[in-house]
Amino acid sequence: MAHYFSDDVDADSVKSQPATVELNVPGMTATLATDRGVFSAGQVDTGSRLLLISGPPPVVGDRVIVDVGAGYGPIAVTLAKKNPGATIWAVEVNPRARQLCERNAIALGLTNVRVVTPEEFPENLTVDRIWSNPPIRIGKAPLRELLSSWLTRLAPAGSAHLVVQKNLGADSLAKWLIAEGYGVERRAAQKGFRILDVKPKAEL
Ligand SMILES: C[S@@+](CC[C@H](N)C(=O)[O-])C[C@H]1O[C@@H](n2cnc3c(N)ncnc32)[C@H](O)[C@@H]1O
Repeated sequence: MAHYFSDDVDADSVKSQPATVELNVPGMTATLATDRGVFSAGQVDTGSRLLLISGPPPVVGDRVIVDVGAGYGPIAVTLAKKNPGATIWAVEVNPRARQLCERNAIALGLTNVRVVTPEEFPENLTVDRIWSNPPIRIGKAPLRELLSSWLTRLAPAGSAHLVVQKNLGADSLAKWLIAEGYGVERRAAQKGFRILDVKPKAEL
């Protein structure tokens, strides 16, 4: 059985079983296509919903917004609708999730979503905003490496907005980010989740 974070999901490893879920957050109502072999295929994840409800409003002038670990796209499509002037880069390793995310964006008429693998993201593109329900289950060290690789791309006025379950290490992740030199504020704590706002390291 492949895990949701595997990048080798195909019809052989997890048989397809198409389904739909309802996304209902302030400013966005949609029916999204999902499938077996992708994260939270049965319903929009509670953490992702909380992030969308409690996260900050759109920032005028944002051009590059990244959803790290976009899955089938509930966060990416919501950001795309709320930030029509920005490109939402939906970065995802799971091919089936990427296909679904692409399909969901097209079905909603959103032309500002780019669904890519991590390798396809342009190397020198500076990021205004990162939104993520990150793949905690890849393990502490790989997660820290993944987050560092994205946070170092933030513009000086940029920020990241993360949702992490308390019992999956939200508070130790926040401590580690602070120790690394990032600015961290806990925006919300609800239903066992933490919403963290992360600011880039101050330039020396
Ligand atoms: C907790 S899920 C969130 C999915 C989606 N944002 C949602 O709200 O339903 C994390 C996602 O990160 C993806 N992922 C794992 N490792 C990744 C990596 N190195 N780069 C990008 N995405 C990754 C997983 O495949 C998974 O879809």
